[in-house]
Amino acid sequence: MGLNLKAIPFFNLKNIFLFLIFLFLIKIFLDLIRGRAIFVPLPKNTIRKALKEIKTKNKKILDLGSGDGRVLIIAVKEFKCKEAYGIEINPILYYFSKFLIKINKLENKIKIIKGDFLKLKLPKVDIITMYLNWGLMKDVEKKILKECKNCEIISFAHRLPNLKEYKKIKTGHFYTYFYKI
Ligand SMILES: C[S@@+](CC[C@H](N)C(=O)[O-])C[C@H]1O[C@@H](n2cnc3c(N)ncnc32)[C@H](O)[C@@H]1O
Repeated sequence: MGLNLKAIPFFNLKNIFLFLIFLFLIKIFLDLIRGRAIFVPLPKNTIRKALKEIKTKNKKILDLGSGDGRVLIIAVKEFKCKEAYGIEINPILYYFSKFLIKINKLENKIKIIKGDFLKLKLPKVDIITMYLNWGLMKDVEKKILKECKNCEIISFAHRLPNLKEYKKIKTGHFYTYFYKI
């Protein structure tokens, strides 16, 4: 005699769906209070506005927490970056960004690495972009200062705590900060 889940009142499709949404919201809430960055994609025009401010042609770019890969796709397609790297911790976004890169036929120029950028060795690049959470900025700054040289950094919405930006621009409802190290 098997267990008939449908006979138990809670186990209908609607409740399971609501329960999954509830778990998803709890995860977002926990990430927020721990100061972790959740996936909030940048508006494409904000990316364009920031990249217009610096030299991008033939440069290598890295997006820390690359989400669906939009910064990298725009950097290569529209701003002529020659190579682009993304590091993404969320496996769903990792595979989704690889899918978008494939349909844009950019697999030879854009590489996505799955994992925590704080624990991985950063690729050598000329430009680093990030759109993260305040809680990560101190660790990210420490990591960048340890591993990167001759690099332009663009941080959307959050300042690096110790470096002094050489420029900031208003992008939508927040500022974007530019650094050189
Ligand atoms: C606010 S979203 C920005 C996504 C993308 N860069 C954009 O601008 O549209 C932040 C991203 O960073 C990722 N992330 C957060 N912490 C990370 C970590 N330690 N290592 C790698 N990715 C991380 C999240 O999963 C999320 O996709």
